[in-house]
Amino acid sequence: MPTTFYTLGVKQIVQETPETVSLLFEIPPSLKETFRYREGQYLTLRKQIDGEEIRRSYSFSSSPLEQDLKITIKQVPNGRMSTYINQELKEGDTLEVMPPMGRFYSDSFPVEGKSYFLFAGGSGITPLFSIAKTVLHANPLNAVWLLYGNQNEDATIFREELQALEQEFGSRFAVQHVLGQVSGETPFQLEPWPGIMDESIIHRFLNRHRPQHLHKEYFVCGPTPMMKAVERILQEKYVPKKTVHLEYFVSNAEANADTIKGKRARLTAHLPDQTVDTWIPEGQTVLDALLNDGYDIPFSCRSGNCATCLGKCHPDQVKMRTNMTLEDDEVAQGMVLTCQAVPVTDAIEIDYTQYNPY
Ligand code: FES
Repeated sequence: MPTTFYTLGVKQIVQETPETVSLLFEIPPSLKETFRYREGQYLTLRKQIDGEEIRRSYSFSSSPLEQDLKITIKQVPNGRMSTYINQELKEGDTLEVMPPMGRFYSDSFPVEGKSYFLFAGGSGITPLFSIAKTVLHANPLNAVWLLYGNQNEDATIFREELQALEQEFGSRFAVQHVLGQVSGETPFQLEPWPGIMDESIIHRFLNRHRPQHLHKEYFVCGPTPMMKAVERILQEKYVPKKTVHLEYFVSNAEANADTIKGKRARLTAHLPDQTVDTWIPEGQTVLDALLNDGYDIPFSCRSGNCATCLGKCHPDQVKMRTNMTLEDDEVAQGMVLTCQAVPVTDAIEIDYTQYNPY
């Protein structure tokens, strides 16, 4: 804090599919440390579009073990940032970029290796591609099984790179494609399964690829119904929650705004350089109130997905409208997504200095 955005040059734009591009950034030597990242993390971009400041987060598709820093962006209907990037941005242009953030990775690296199960729907492949490359290179005993759903072969992002990885890592890496329409023109290593990523496909995948290690880890990113299905099946199989990592693209924050209004409350906020005393009007989140008062608080998605706005607060003082990223034990410890937190007591105290790197 204050929220720092850096101006980075776009070194290269790679057309991955008709609707998806990857951006490679120019990182000056003085910012190399600032932009050091973990597999599965993301960058937040900021841009004025039609007079409005837009912020969006995009995951790294590169691995931290690779030289270039690369994010991948699929154009979404009515997506102002993704449309700008796909349609207007040119090599040599600059973008305002916040340093890497995100918690979609694991810190456990047993020497005896691990079985990784990755579930990707569409552009949800982006952080999983970064994770796959990283863990395959990190330990020669690791194995990765990827279930990857798309409409058809042309919409399959990183199709050729994944094939190259299969050849490079042989029995340690396999991709099971699931396609809405199978043309049969692409020679996949494993025959693609026709259909969508529903429960029967997920069961079939887990039955086909049994864990080879004592240690297992599960990463899921894609459309919400697919993510819920994977989560449900892993719960039924008593897979420990700590080993299941979910990265949501969308949330139900707006739907919950009517039902979880919160109340007007006194707010004490500890920022790195000052302590602020103010009021939160009824219906506003902690983040909204501080931004409206002119304080520069880090945020990105504003929908409970990214944890850029993380603060610490007594769990009895606030309620989150939605939370797609914090675990139950983290919430119990006082971690709170301030873009989703509304007061439930007359006075609340938020500490932004505990978790935020700024
Ligand atoms: S800004 Fe993304 S969770 Fe709050």
